[in-house]
Amino acid sequence: MPSVILETERLRLRSVLERDIDDVYTSCVDPDLQRWVPLPAPGEPYTRENAEDFCLRLAPGIRTSGDGQHWALLEREGGRFVGSLALLRTEWPAKVTEVGYWISPWGRGRGYAAEAVVAVSRWAIDQGFQRIELKAAVGNIASRRVAESTGFVHEGVERNAMPLNEGRTDLAVYSLLPTDLKTTP
Ligand SMILES: CC(C)(COP(=O)(O)OP(=O)(O)OC[C@H]1O[C@@H](n2cnc3c(N)ncnc32)[C@H](O)[C@@H]1OP(=O)(O)O)[C@@H](O)C(=O)NCCC(=O)NCCS
Repeated sequence: MPSVILETERLRLRSVLERDIDDVYTSCVDPDLQRWVPLPAPGEPYTRENAEDFCLRLAPGIRTSGDGQHWALLEREGGRFVGSLALLRTEWPAKVTEVGYWISPWGRGRGYAAEAVVAVSRWAIDQGFQRIELKAAVGNIASRRVAESTGFVHEGVERNAMPLNEGRTDLAVYSLLPTDLKTTP
């Protein structure tokens, strides 16, 4: 996937770098993040080594392997790190990819996830992708609201699809197609 820097009204989306390790670590140990995104794996505590591995190997490796691309989200004003967003599980022949994200505790409540999802989805559709998937635990109301407010269409539920730290959850499945953009302001 071509490496790209994107800018929105309030955010700059660039590659994840070594200097993000501390912010990634502090964000990923947050209980509200761990509730819905059980990193590094369900039941395993998130360590600083996990943050190092993410910034130095996993995030860059996902792009070079063709699986997708990770962006760090920074406030344009001041440059503060406020979250991460990725395209993942890219199926090149089918032109299908999936978007995933988290916002650092100190960046939440300002609509940053939606702003970044719009920018990345539009970029992906400009690259020729025909379907962008977004999956959220059915109880993750904030994430589902991000999907709905950015024009993703609810398709249904994958039952018992994802292990969390506390049991398993159904996943709400959304998608965005190029034709959906025509109806999204
Ligand atoms: C989900 C997440 C990315 C949203 O980030 P954000 O940009 O700060 O989102 P906001 O707080 O601005 O909220 C987005 C929308 O959800 C709504 N919302 C937020 N928390 C809510 C709650 N507990 N109940 C109901 N609605 C809620 C907001 O009012 C807003 O609605 P709007 O679009 O009508 O204005 C962030 O909460 C997060 O990182 N959570 C932990 C990790 C995670 O769940 N990642 C997604 C995995 S699929």
